[in-house]
Amino acid sequence: MTKKNQLVIAGLVFALLAGIGWTNAFAQLAQLPADKYIALMNKPGRDLKVHEVIKKLKLKPGDVVADIGSGSGAFSIPMAKAIAPNGTLYAVDIDQKMLDYVDGQAKKNNLTDLHTVLGGHDDPKLPVKTVDVAFFHRSLHMIEHREAYLDATATYLKPEGRIVVIDKSPEDSKSWMWLKRSDLDSWMAAIGFYPVQHFGIFDDRYFVVYQRPYGNSSLVQELKSRHAKSK
Ligand SMILES: C[S@@+](CC[C@H](N)C(=O)[O-])C[C@H]1O[C@@H](n2cnc3c(N)ncnc32)[C@H](O)[C@@H]1O
Repeated sequence: MTKKNQLVIAGLVFALLAGIGWTNAFAQLAQLPADKYIALMNKPGRDLKVHEVIKKLKLKPGDVVADIGSGSGAFSIPMAKAIAPNGTLYAVDIDQKMLDYVDGQAKKNNLTDLHTVLGGHDDPKLPVKTVDVAFFHRSLHMIEHREAYLDATATYLKPEGRIVVIDKSPEDSKSWMWLKRSDLDSWMAAIGFYPVQHFGIFDDRYFVVYQRPYGNSSLVQELKSRHAKSK
């Protein structure tokens, strides 16, 4: 086969893969080097509403929280402060350099109960199975196998543990890579989690809390109170 023919075939294969979305799947995990990413994430003017998020989630001393895709620790550090004393914050990322930066920030802030965790691509690899809140801020859309990742995350939660997702819907963005709320709801339902709260504090992102209908979860409490009212 001539070189020209080989190039034509390679071009056709690429066009085919692009057409069925494979190139997107590969691109999802691509990201900037840590130092550039950290500078971007620490840029003043990022609309994070960290303290409002903490208040809405009613995080309290003693809670165990996993900040998954923790990046520069914009949420990990204030969350670790909110759950002290006796709480534990696990900052999970797949980039060790990002975690080293968060470790440095934790030391500066004397946060001895903040632990960084090098997660796997499909599993946060947390060291405990007693997590109260697994928190994803603009990170779930970067994970290639989102359903598998959520399924793995659920195994580390207490029965009434919450999975919290703040992310952007493709309807609100020109980019292909964001996450549709309806897809998220279906994946969550498939692993037995249902939306229990939605906070409209961001103009461009949804902020949803999911829980299983177990134990003392708000879903069970609501059912009990409906049952009591109907008597
Ligand atoms: C856009 S940043 C958001 C960081 C932080 N949550 C914030 O809002 O400031 C996404 C982060 O997710 C991390 N990430 C990407 N894929 C991941 C995976 N499979 N598991 C854990 N973290 C991942 C990236 O390394 C990056 O730090």
